[in-house]
Amino acid sequence: MRQPLVIVAFETRDALMHAAADRAADVLQAAISARGSACAALSGGSTPEQAYALLAKAPLDWSKVTFALVDERCVPLDDPASNEAMLRRALAPALGNGATLIAMYAQGAANPVAEANRAHENLHIDVALMGMGADAHTASWFPAARGLSAALDPASTRTVVAVDAPQAAGASARLTLTRAAIGRAEHVVLLITGDEKRARLERALGEAETDAPVAALFDEAMAPVEVLWAL
Ligand code: 6PG
Repeated sequence: MRQPLVIVAFETRDALMHAAADRAADVLQAAISARGSACAALSGGSTPEQAYALLAKAPLDWSKVTFALVDERCVPLDDPASNEAMLRRALAPALGNGATLIAMYAQGAANPVAEANRAHENLHIDVALMGMGADAHTASWFPAARGLSAALDPASTRTVVAVDAPQAAGASARLTLTRAAIGRAEHVVLLITGDEKRARLERALGEAETDAPVAALFDEAMAPVEVLWAL
């Protein structure tokens, strides 16, 4: 069974970015108060950078916060497609105040997937901030990608898997958190912009996960997805 789709719409992209940053900051603050530490898993791509830059200016005790990536393109850090590089740039104020960022792609490692699983062992995700592409992918769960079924296996014991998606922007070779890992997140926020993505998401909820992998986020077993949208 799937969750119903509830879209919270904002007047402007600026308002959307502020809302996403505020939501993440609130969840992180609540986790710090409750557990003494907090973790946000953040998507790459071009849409969320402004939200991350706003989040990084929030008055949190950043020494208690860990950031992880939802997915990564297997490229060096100086490649413009690197999600880690984007996060390091946008989150600089938080990282400068003691936040930790767990890299997903260990360039040069003998086995980057095993390395990523080790690095993400026991990760407790308070909030996963997801994006979506016009082909209905989220994270690096791309339709028809090699590795998609492992990524979408609800019973997977792996936190990170490798995916190869020839159509993916930036790099076809990807590492991604699994559906099982995102399924353990306390909160899931999906940030999208534009009419095309909104219409694609609305259709996706009636499609198979192999055709529209973003639908897997709406599995009833997952945390309720908070969809934030602006034109
Ligand atoms: C990635 C992502 C990916 C992203 C969507 C949307 O590394 O490509 O994490 O899942 O969220 O592709 O990307 P845009 O914001 O660039 O449209």
